[in-house]
Amino acid sequence: MTYDEALIYLTKHHQEHLLRFYETLTVSQQESLLSQIATLDLDRPQFTAGGFPKQKRGKFEPLGALTLDKIAANKEKYHAIGIEAIRSGKVGAVLLAGGQGSRLGFPHPKGMYNIGKTRELYIFQCLIQNLMQVTDAAGVFVPLFIMTSENNDAETRAFLAEHAYFGYQADRVYFFRQETEPAVDAKTGKILMSAPDQIVLSPNGNGGWFSSMQRAGMLDVTKKLGIEWLNVFAVDNVLQQIADPVFIGATIVSGSASGGKVVSKATPDERVGVLCLEDGKPSIVEYYEMTDEMRTRRDSDGNLAYRFGVILNYLFRVEDLKRTLNKDFPLHIAHKKIPHMTENGTWIEPEENNGYKFETLVLDMVHMQDSCLAFEVERAKEFAPVKNPDGVDSVKTAQALLEQNGVLL
Ligand code: UTP
Repeated sequence: MTYDEALIYLTKHHQEHLLRFYETLTVSQQESLLSQIATLDLDRPQFTAGGFPKQKRGKFEPLGALTLDKIAANKEKYHAIGIEAIRSGKVGAVLLAGGQGSRLGFPHPKGMYNIGKTRELYIFQCLIQNLMQVTDAAGVFVPLFIMTSENNDAETRAFLAEHAYFGYQADRVYFFRQETEPAVDAKTGKILMSAPDQIVLSPNGNGGWFSSMQRAGMLDVTKKLGIEWLNVFAVDNVLQQIADPVFIGATIVSGSASGGKVVSKATPDERVGVLCLEDGKPSIVEYYEMTDEMRTRRDSDGNLAYRFGVILNYLFRVEDLKRTLNKDFPLHIAHKKIPHMTENGTWIEPEENNGYKFETLVLDMVHMQDSCLAFEVERAKEFAPVKNPDGVDSVKTAQALLEQNGVLL
């Protein structure tokens, strides 16, 4: 893209301030800025005057789950089917590690956080050890795809290599980077800059993982390896079972296109997204989207009707995921404090939320599937998210849960 082309394009979308410092840049900085501008798709709604369109929701209904007692009754059968799928190479795991972990406030990739008390025990290490319980039992290493972001890719790769992948087979680990989205000023809708030649770009949310895999050539790898199912999981739940054979077996037996691990909500007001049906398709309703009636509705057996909270551990059939590649994901808006350079060149570290970041979410991918098996797991054994330094879902609560499960910290 030339300067003139960039100017015409930006002016059409009221974003010409991005070229304000162009004349002061070196030739390579100018090239870098023009190539960033060339990747912008300013026709999309978040850059359109008139604001950001709110996502319309359909009609919600409760979705039942394969509950703990039903799983226990068929555990051996599910386990055998799941282990067989793993042994025959049909299962891959995808670690979503591209987030910014801003709530934790740790200035490195979240997986590098040491959650140990008397010894080093990194979050990445916990996850890999959990996965290795399965791979040891199956006798094969499950291909492990790790999604990083532009910001944390080099540090993540270096850290895992330095620790010899915590015992995982190095050639079964595949890294890919997720795409970015420009951040905008919340008042004006103008794209923010972090330097005269740099647009503020942030990771585009965890819903972009499959298209990022495609862009990085990872779907050629899954095809070559014969992978039919991908188990996607978050970086911050240190207790979760990954490539869980019982979950895989149960999803295969159910004939569903996908499966989601869920925990029973502790109280009607717990702030967790709930797996349900929306217009007859699987979906996740966020706690703030639920009406009082939905929050408190009970089944005939006295249980909450909307009670199965998701823990960001899903199983997807690769063939069905391919159909999501050309679909537009709804964009979710995050109001954040975004440090940036003003139009007169001064650097600002805002104290209030000043900008919007745009993200796609993996939960919208669930809604694109024809069916999803809600698979209940025991919260105390499988859900210990590390989101905050203290309080709810924190380092402290996760440490207590790890100890309860016999992990030496
Ligand atoms: P969160 O929603 O907790 O976001 O991510 P976050 O960025 O890690 O943390 P905060 O909100 O800034 O404190 C849930 C999972 O999705 C991944 C995260 O790494 C985590 O595993 N994720 C999130 C991505 O991989 N990319 C993203 O752009 C966002």
